Order: sequence, then C-alpha cells, then structure tokens
Amino acid sequence: MNQDPSPSQAIPSRFDVAEPLALHGGPKAKRTPFASRKRHGELEKRYLSEVIDSDVLFFFIGSKVFEFQKRFAAMYGCKYCIACSSGTAAVHIALAALELPPGSEVITSAITDMGSLTGMLYQGLVPVFADIDQDTLNMDPASTRRCITQRTRAILVVHHGGLAADMDAFLELGRERNLPVVEDCAQAYGTKYKDRPAGTMGAIGAFSLNHFKHITCGSGGMVITDDDRLRYLVSLFLDKCYQREEKIRNPFFLAPNYQMTELQGAVALAQLDRVQEITCRLAARRASSRARSRPRASRTRPTSSLADGPFISTTFSKNGPHSLAAHTRLAPAFIVRGIVRSLSKHSTSG
Ligand SMILES: Cc1ncc(COP(=O)(O)O)c(C=O)c1O
Repeated sequence: MNQDPSPSQAIPSRFDVAEPLALHGGPKAKRTPFASRKRHGELEKRYLSEVIDSDVLFFFIGSKVFEFQKRFAAMYGCKYCIACSSGTAAVHIALAALELPPGSEVITSAITDMGSLTGMLYQGLVPVFADIDQDTLNMDPASTRRCITQRTRAILVVHHGGLAADMDAFLELGRERNLPVVEDCAQAYGTKYKDRPAGTMGAIGAFSLNHFKHITCGSGGMVITDDDRLRYLVSLFLDKCYQREEKIRNPFFLAPNYQMTELQGAVALAQLDRVQEITCRLAARRASSRARSRPRASRTRPTSSLADGPFISTTFSKNGPHSLAAHTRLAPAFIVRGIVRSLSKHSTSG
C-alpha cells in the first residue's frame, strides 16, 4: 500500500526555511507519496477469480462464506459467525432469533442508522428510543432504564462511531430485568470494552460490511454468538427457513432470503487481512487529532491501546473527536414515529 519514495523523490525530511518555495524552484513540500486510497487489491481479485473458477456463487455449496465465517468467529473468539447480505439484515436476523412476540418494545439508541430499526419494524416490534449521553453519543443506561415498560423484551445497544457503549450497565440491566442485550457493532470493528470485544458481550452481535464501514464487500453483514439455538435460528431466518443442514425444505416460520453470496464472501474474506491495520490507523488518527486539540476535561473509558491485536479500547475526551467510523447517521426518528405509533396501537397491552 504505502510505497517508499523513489531515490529521486528522497528529499531531506527537514524543511530549510531559507530554501525557495517549490513554486519558485525549491524542493517539494510533500516529499512522500500519499498512501494508496484503494480498498481492494490483489487478494480480493484472487479470491474472486477462485469463486468464478469454481462456478459456484451460492454460499451453502461454496467455501468462501464458510471460510469468512470461521475466520471472523476466530478473530472475535466466539463460537459462531453467520454471514448475511447487509448490516440491516444482520440486525434483523439477530432480533428475529430472539423470537419476541409482535408488539414487544425494544429499547435502542436515539442516534443510529435506519438499519438498526428496519428489522424491528418488519418483526412488528416497537423501537423505543433511549436518550443518548451527549459526550459519547452512546445510549445512556439511566435513560434506558426509564424506558422499560411491561412490554419491553430486549435492548439493542449501538456502539456509536467506534466507541463502546457502557456495557457493564446494559448487561446488568439486562440481567436484572431478564432482557436479552443485542449489540449493533456496525460502526465498531475492533472496539473493545474492558478487554472484551464489542459484539461478544450480549446474546448476539451484528456487523455491517457496507461501503462506509471499516471493511466492506459492497454490501454484507454478519452476526456473532456463542449460543447454539440463536445460531440455528439466525441461519434459518436468513435463508427462507430452509433447514439445509437437515436437508429439509419445509419452512415453519416466515423468513426472508438474506444470504451472502460467494462473491461477497470472497471480498469479505480478503478484507479480514486489512481490518487490524484499518482500525489501528483510524485510532491513531483519532489519537493525534485529540492530541492537537486543547486539553479538556477528559472522560475515560478503558484505555487506548493500538498495538493490542485487532481490537482497540476506546478512550473518550469530552467533546473531542472520537469517531473510528467515518460517518454518523441520525436515526430518521421522524420517519419511524408514524410507523411506531400505528404499531403501538395494535400491540398487546400489559
Ligand atoms: C449502527 C448501524 N446499524 C446498522 C446499519 C445498517 O448496515 P447496512 O448499511 O449494511 O445495512 C448501519 C449502517 O450504516 C449502522 O451504522
């Protein structure tokens, strides 16, 4: 990726203020080439051509999606990774696997991508928006607690912009009120909370591989879990409820087709080789812009460590830059409100 400058470009690294500007015949101000912005390279091409040569694009009889799942699960130290067609699909299959009755309320963040909510609405669940902590833009556990009603059945925690949410508080709340906690890690690759990777603390964690994420295969997603039953239900839910492992095609619940193809799997697999470098680079950029900013009252989450495998613990300076993901989307709550209102009318009471 980063090429060394050729000998003719090898200019002394220090500027001499007496030298004329490049404009007037002096040395160039930019003395090393810019890093390549290309996100896909030879490995992606190789895996893609292996898929084409194999003549199999369907995951269940191919190898790339399975290999990707195996490697991602190993990277996160969990039992299962199940790949699917998008992050939206990942959140949807995660929630569907919880088998919540329609009308159940799921508490989630007031700031997130629409993809956190779409699956909920399709399952007839009612998103309830907890307030966010204004410093971290993550869900506030105290507000989440206040949102709990008799109809609450789950908490969908979103780790916003690469910063881990306060998982101790959410897990405690989940235990206390018997509510499963799902983690939306679409924006949080390599994020750690107190030595635990985001995505491995709740019942199930969901990721996105869309173009704007740390790694991408155009569109894709996955969930991770240690739970055998959730693994089974998730893999049925993304595949029309075909029980392929048992060779049975007799769907016993309604399920979409959210399969990941071998083409997506090939690119996603190749991208895994880059994830550590990408998360470290983004964290380093964040750390350097934090260092440049004025010292502020600092609010610290578990310490920052860049050389610590693919995972980055997150430190947050109040009002300082904190986003590892390159984007932030505001939940189009106003769009959702109408849908939620009509769902609420039909939801079961008590
Ligand atoms: C927090 C969050 N959840 C879910 C999604 C949906 O992912 P996808 O675009 O892959 O469907 C996104 C995407 O931006 C996201 O940021």
